[in-house]
Amino acid sequence: MKITVVGAGNVGATCADVLASREVANEIILLDIKEGFAEGKALDIWQTAPINQYDSRTIGSTNDYTTTKDSDVVVITSGLPRKPGMSRDDLIATNAGIVKTVTENIVAQSPNAIIIVVSNPLDVMTYCAYLNAKTDSKKVFGMAGILDTARYRAFLATELNVSPKDIQAVLMGGHGDTMVPLPRYTTVSGIPVTELIAEDKLNEIIERTKFGGGEIVKLLGTSAWYAPGAAAAQMVEAIVRDQKRIFPVCAWLQGEYGLNDIYLGVPVVLGKNGIEKIIELQLNDAEKALLTESAEAVKSVMDVLDNMNANA
Ligand code: NAI
Ligand code: 2OP
Repeated sequence: MKITVVGAGNVGATCADVLASREVANEIILLDIKEGFAEGKALDIWQTAPINQYDSRTIGSTNDYTTTKDSDVVVITSGLPRKPGMSRDDLIATNAGIVKTVTENIVAQSPNAIIIVVSNPLDVMTYCAYLNAKTDSKKVFGMAGILDTARYRAFLATELNVSPKDIQAVLMGGHGDTMVPLPRYTTVSGIPVTELIAEDKLNEIIERTKFGGGEIVKLLGTSAWYAPGAAAAQMVEAIVRDQKRIFPVCAWLQGEYGLNDIYLGVPVVLGKNGIEKIIELQLNDAEKALLTESAEAVKSVMDVLDNMNANA
C-alpha cells in the first residue's frame, strides 16, 4: 500500500505521522511545494520509527509528483489555513487554484487513487477536486465530519466526566457554522445523551461545536492540526484495512436526503472502494430544516467556484 499526503504543513505532517506510527501503509509520500520542507518533515517522522517501534517509511518530496506514482490513497491538505478573522470561505480563490493543480498532478500519476480532501473551504474544495479528478464520486470525498464530531464528543466527555470512547454521535451538513449536530443520534454507551445532560447545557455544547474551529484559530492564530490530521488518517485507515467504518464524510449527493449535485457531510460506510454506501437517516422536520439551511450555505460557495470556473 502506498499513501500520499500533499501539503507537509501542520495537518499534512500530523496525518503522515499518525499513518506511519499506526503502520497503515509501508510507504508514505509527503509532498509540498516549499523547497526541502516535506523532506525535512519526512526525515523527522522517519526518525521516530526506531523510538516508536514501527517500520512504515515516510519519504518527502518537493513537488515531484513522479514520487507519488501508483498511490492507493491521497490526502490533500495543501492550501492556506484560516487566520484570525478570516472565514473558511475567504480562502476559496487561492485554495481552489492549489487544489485544482494538485488534483491534476495526482491523477496523472495515480488514476485509480482514492482522494480525501482536507483543504478549506472543505465542501467546495472537495467539489473542486472532484471536478478536476474526473473520476467516480465514490473515490473523491472530504474530511470534516470526523473532526467536528470529535469536538462534540470531546466536549460531551468533559461535561459528563466520562470516557470519550463511550460517546457515539453523528453530525451532518457543511463544514462551517451551519453544521448539524444531531442530539437524537447521540448516545453514551447506548444511553440517549438527553437522559444525561440538561437541554440548555447540550445546546451550549452544540453551539461550541459549531464554532470549534474558530475557537482554536483564536487561541493559536492558525487552525487546528492534531485532531484534523488524526481524523484524515482514520479515514485512510478505514479504506486501507477495508474496515467498513461508518463516519460522517463530505460526499457527493445524488438524490440522497432530497439533495442533488452537492458535496455535503452525511454518514457513509468507508471501505476499500471508498464510499461504499451513503446512509440515509430518518430525519425529523426540524433536522431536515437545519440540513437544508446548511446545504444552501454550501451551495452558495459552490456557485462561487462555478462562476470562477465559468469566467476563467
Ligand atoms: P499549513 O500552512 O501548515 O500547511 C499547508 C501546506 O500546503 C504548506 O506547507 C504549503 O507549503 C503547502 N502548499 C501550498 N500550496 C501547495 C501546492 N500547490 N502544492 C503542494 N503543497 C502546497 O496549513 P494546515 O494547518 O496544514 O492546513 C492545511 C489546510 O487544511 C488549510 O486549507 C486548512 O484550512 C485546512 N483544514 C481543514 C480542516 C478540515 O476539517 N477539513 C481542519 C484543519 C485545517
Ligand atoms: C477547523 O475546523 C479550520 O476547518 C478548520 O479546525
